[in-house]
Amino acid sequence: MTAPLNAAAVAALALEPLDWRFKGLPASWWGRTPADLCEASPRLLDDGGGAVGPVCVLLADALAANLATMAQWCRDRGVKLAPHGKTHMAPALLARQLDAGACAVTVATISQVRIFRAFGVRDVVLANELVDPAALRWLAAELDADADFTLVCWVDSVRGVELMTSTLTAAGAVRPVDVCVEVGMAGGRTGCRDADSVDEVARAVAASARLRLVGVAGYEAALGHGLGPDAVAVVRSYLADVRAAVLRLAPLFETESIIATAGGSTHFDIVADALTEWPADMCVRTILRSGCYLTHDDGLYHRTSPLRDGLRSALRVWAQVVSRPEPDLAVLTMGRRDVSFDQDLPMPYGFTSAHVVKLNDQHAYLRLGDDDVDVGDWVEFGISHPCTVFDKWPMIPVLDGDGRVVELIRTFF
Ligand SMILES: Cc1ncc(COP(=O)(O)O)c(C=O)c1O
Repeated sequence: MTAPLNAAAVAALALEPLDWRFKGLPASWWGRTPADLCEASPRLLDDGGGAVGPVCVLLADALAANLATMAQWCRDRGVKLAPHGKTHMAPALLARQLDAGACAVTVATISQVRIFRAFGVRDVVLANELVDPAALRWLAAELDADADFTLVCWVDSVRGVELMTSTLTAAGAVRPVDVCVEVGMAGGRTGCRDADSVDEVARAVAASARLRLVGVAGYEAALGHGLGPDAVAVVRSYLADVRAAVLRLAPLFETESIIATAGGSTHFDIVADALTEWPADMCVRTILRSGCYLTHDDGLYHRTSPLRDGLRSALRVWAQVVSRPEPDLAVLTMGRRDVSFDQDLPMPYGFTSAHVVKLNDQHAYLRLGDDDVDVGDWVEFGISHPCTVFDKWPMIPVLDGDGRVVELIRTFF
């Protein structure tokens, strides 16, 4: 059995010289490799550090603590974790998640599968139906070339099953593609909307020689991240449907080890309640797919994570004040190109009343209230929703508790 990831391919990233491609990083780093820099562990943000704003950083201690906290939680609750790789798209971060016990990476697209495969990732959950013929041909060749490579994707229609089957047949695929039937929710995203459709799709998979029915999948946050009683009731009732599907389809599964997968970073406690404790004659692997626990945040997941008292925010963006055009207003070098804005605006650290009221492409508007800043001051911001911060930064320095660079994380979006 091959390793869950090609550690040498990940390590090789640290040997690629840095240059102007990586915004925010000091020009004095150009021509040097991450490996060489981390050996010297320079400071980044102090006077003379050389960072230019805005710059995004990860905090080493918080990352390590979050990894350990989530891994322990999963062990305690008897669930596996296939963290969503779309959050960071960083092989070096996935390597740590796998080291901490993750069983696979989750991805959303075939291009993301290809990126992680380029780093030898052995086990992949593709949380989508795959009907693109070119993608299916590539996947069939990849599966047939590497007996250790496992991928499970989702199906939610008979038409999808037929398209997959005919393309894989025409491609001469040898290994069947593993699939989970996806259970959806009314008003949600993908997924069969009722038990009859779930069963019909499952039967179509079981009848296909090119597909193997291995489990049931769902995503409980398709309607949002609400924690109010109504929202939680919807999530519970939805997960009861997922559980019922696993039990109902037991005779159809084409594997001894059935997959039941759900769970983003908000309701994974409810998922663990709903999708564990199976009948003794069934071997079910419950797989969570949380991605945002790793860096956590100061917004959405700070409010909604079941581990909000244990996880620490590990992703920050620093920006400089470039203008104080009105008494109550500071404008900073950080905009929608640099930081997430889909859930909440970034939150400044170290102030009592200052808050961001607007972002342009390249500017942030900070209403100061009782606080004060000068042109030239640096401000540290917490973020809300890590997925839409990572995608804006191709290289992210990791800082230790002293502000020294201990690693550089390359992302691939
Ligand atoms: C299908 C699916 N699974 C898992 C996740 C991970 O959830 P989170 O981003 O809250 O960690 C997502 C996120 O969008 C998702 O769409």
